Amino acid sequence: MRLNRTLWVSLVLIYSFIIRAQDPWQDAESMLRQALKRVDPMARSSSTSDRSRTEESGVLYIPMDYYEEEQEKRYAYFFSNEATDWQKKVHRLLRESSEIYGNPEATFILAQLHLWGDYGFPHNKTLAFKYSDKFNNLTRFTNSSVLFDLSVMHSTGFFGEIPVDRAKGLVYLQQAASLGNMQAKQALAYKYSSGTDVPRDCNKALLLYREIAESIRRSFSDEEWYLYPPYVETYDVRLPDLTGGLLGKGLTTWVKTLQGRLPSERPDITSSFLTKMDGGKVWLKFGSENSGASFTDNDDDSYDRIVDIYYTALDEYKGTYMTARDCEEARKILELTFITFDNEVPVMDNLPRFFYAKCIELLGHIYFTGEAEGHPNITLAERYLNRSLELFETYGSLGSTSHTDLGLISQYIKKNDTDAIKHYRKGEHTEFATGAGRHDFQLSLLSSKYPELKLGDPFMLIQHAYALGSRPAIYEFARMKESGMGGYYSCEDSIASFQLFVERSEELMAPQLRTAYGELLKENGEVALWAYAQAAEQGYEAAQVNAACISYLLPRNFEDPPKTTRERKLMSISYYMQALKQGNIDAGVVAGNIYFEMQDYSKSVQLYQSSALRFSPQALWNLGYMYEYGLGVEIDFSMAKRYYDQVLENNPKLYIAVKLSVLKLRAKAWLLWITGERSGYELGDRDNEQSDDKRVPWYKKLFESYKSAFTGNDESEGDKKEGDGSTQNADSKQKEESDEGTWTRLSSLGLHLEDFLSIAFILFLFLFSVIVRIIAARRGWNVNNADVRVNGNHGAHDGGQNNNVFRGNFEVRIAI
Ligand SMILES: *[C@@H]1O[C@H](CO)[C@@H](O)[C@H](O)[C@H]1NC(C)=O
Ligand SMILES: *[C@@H]1O[C@H](CO)[C@@H](O)[C@H](O)[C@H]1NC(C)=O
Ligand SMILES: *[C@@H]1O[C@H](CO)[C@@H](O)[C@H](O)[C@H]1NC(C)=O
Ligand SMILES: *[C@@H]1O[C@H](CO)[C@@H](O)[C@H](O)[C@H]1NC(C)=O
Ligand SMILES: *[C@@H]1O[C@H](CO)[C@@H](O)[C@H](O)[C@H]1NC(C)=O
Ligand SMILES: *[C@@H]1O[C@H](CO)[C@@H](O)[C@H](O)[C@H]1NC(C)=O
Repeated sequence: MRLNRTLWVSLVLIYSFIIRAQDPWQDAESMLRQALKRVDPMARSSSTSDRSRTEESGVLYIPMDYYEEEQEKRYAYFFSNEATDWQKKVHRLLRESSEIYGNPEATFILAQLHLWGDYGFPHNKTLAFKYSDKFNNLTRFTNSSVLFDLSVMHSTGFFGEIPVDRAKGLVYLQQAASLGNMQAKQALAYKYSSGTDVPRDCNKALLLYREIAESIRRSFSDEEWYLYPPYVETYDVRLPDLTGGLLGKGLTTWVKTLQGRLPSERPDITSSFLTKMDGGKVWLKFGSENSGASFTDNDDDSYDRIVDIYYTALDEYKGTYMTARDCEEARKILELTFITFDNEVPVMDNLPRFFYAKCIELLGHIYFTGEAEGHPNITLAERYLNRSLELFETYGSLGSTSHTDLGLISQYIKKNDTDAIKHYRKGEHTEFATGAGRHDFQLSLLSSKYPELKLGDPFMLIQHAYALGSRPAIYEFARMKESGMGGYYSCEDSIASFQLFVERSEELMAPQLRTAYGELLKENGEVALWAYAQAAEQGYEAAQVNAACISYLLPRNFEDPPKTTRERKLMSISYYMQALKQGNIDAGVVAGNIYFEMQDYSKSVQLYQSSALRFSPQALWNLGYMYEYGLGVEIDFSMAKRYYDQVLENNPKLYIAVKLSVLKLRAKAWLLWITGERSGYELGDRDNEQSDDKRVPWYKKLFESYKSAFTGNDESEGDKKEGDGSTQNADSKQKEESDEGTWTRLSSLGLHLEDFLSIAFILFLFLFSVIVRIIAARRGWNVNNADVRVNGNHGAHDGGQNNNVFRGNFEVRIAI
């Protein structure tokens, strides 16, 4: 019996040993360990060719057309033609391990591989979902990061791969959050605060956001928190902002400062000089490290060069939108500048001297934070900071970051608060630290510590630092708000500050934003879309816009919209609507445009209306158009005119375009009346006209109708206006009066009405189409709408028919 059992046990052991020996996971793992998971195109490689590429005005890639078949073909092509032996082998081993032996680790790697395109494999949604789901089954719903992935997949339908199931997404999300996943918690907090998928619940949202914020705070030591708040290199940018905003230059209304990535910024004073210097070549001379000789070969230019050096170093320190930051490179440049120019300071002009001081200031800051070498060198920092202050003396009151840095050194390293306060009070004008507002933050702390010194109200100081964007200040401010400091308590306000803090802690909460950005540079749209989809779920407004753009981008000029699937269009709309909820009114307009493009006009009207409530000129314009052509609403010319007029109030730059549209409306009211169609615009005293009908020649009738159109307009407008403000009403009356004046004057000049009408009408039609076309093209109006509006070539709907009527009459007039 006993023997039997031992035998049995050892058999099982041997069996399981054989199984283990056969599971190829170990081999696969050791292969993976030696390979590079992902190439980061933002990272500075040492090769100079890479570097100069970034100096050109790079364009981020946003995918347009999307065909499922094309993706599949590309996937098949990869495995038959492009895959390296290494890739083929690893893939085979992993699949064997997962499918035959049910190895969770291998399953996990396979899921991530197809989700993120790791190790150069192509993205594949089918497999990513399959393996994630399988891994989740194997681990019995205990791995929170995979649960979060699955949650995003379910609630987005994984862009057409699986059915959209927001309830299931929510369940997975709650499970992930309860297992402690921070991203899931953030997503859940966002859902509660915005009321997405769940009833709005301010208290739950606040609780979650605060919990996340506190655990972020705990992840920093006090030294990091107070002395060296880590620099966050942000990738939280809206892609359309890089090219003039969602609706294009001039029409984009939504401006909220994201400390986004910028192209390298240089003031105009250097521009002539920059061309002379052949762009950013300066760094090449630095890169070669052959001493400072390159500066001094031409004495006149060398001082101008300091300006360029400063901005080159600043670009390295901050990173631009095509390159990641590189503090060590910045330090090298600045150190070299110091060695080369310090002796020449007495003979320098004002401008180079100022920028030289800024160079030294930045150098001191880099040594103080230790960002270049990994550890601060306070002695050196103090030396450079002292030097920069000495140089700044000449410029009097200009605040310098050096004061803040020196203040921090006095307070935390030399423990001399008096000295520190002296420095902090000199203020700070900073363009390079995320720690903008650091001095106010410190003063606020000190003012609580030494109330007798009357340094100012701690709450006001923190609020100022918060407004400047200092991350510790945002956190402290949120806590003060929550405790009701500053006079009143509002749950929404507290949430907003905690949410801001959590979102700004991008390096912990949303590192995938950087991945997405890099993948776009590598033209991997689908991986970027996935990354943005995750961040969108977490509530990043920019990510929502970006995910919307990648899933479906309506072009801004007169091009055909890209081809894509219905699921992706709907997903895009849903993202724009989330962004709209967070206040991005342009997103509401674009979502409406997509519905328009899908010919779902009533939804379109709804979205335009919600953006029009916040005075988006484009939305008002679009509404006018919808009423003019009766898309999604009854044709109503007076409503149309009202909206067109409101555009003018909100964006006077569109004067001519609006005037022309209103003119067109009037002409149309005319013509519709002739052809006997009804519109809300020509409600004169119709009965009278009908009785007179036979006596009045047709052109008289036109004239009458023109006049009655005015009166009708006035009446109907008056009816509907109520509470809309009376200015506009008065305005339109004035217009009418002057219009009528013109008419009488012209007829008194002996100009025959018939002549006048035919000339005016032909001219009007001709000019209108030409002018609007030109204007529309110049202004880059929103494609679809402008296109439809101007050409009226959408034969399929009412708009087209109306325009046919319009055109038909045009020909009749010519015959006269
Ligand atoms: C994903 O992989 C499966 C299985 O290899 C393949 O049949 C499918 O075409 C791929 N899909 C895409 C979109 O690449
Ligand atoms: C995971 O389990 C669910 C049911 O619990 C099942 O429907 C699904 O097919 C499983 N997924 C995989 C990949 O085995
Ligand atoms: C999920 O599983 C993967 C693979 O086993 C592991 O690397 C990761 O740490 C797990 N995540 C969590 C939150 O448990
Ligand atoms: C700071 O830099 C100086 C000069 O390079 C060096 O001598 C000193 O050891 C450094 N100090 C620290 C703490 O690294
Ligand atoms: C910087 O200046 C302060 C006072 O202005 C002085 O106490 C300190 O020693 C100086 N530090 C260095 C490194 O020169
Ligand atoms: C702090 O620094 C000031 C100079 O700014 C000096 O006069 C004072 O004695 C210092 N206090 C201490 C405690 O070291």
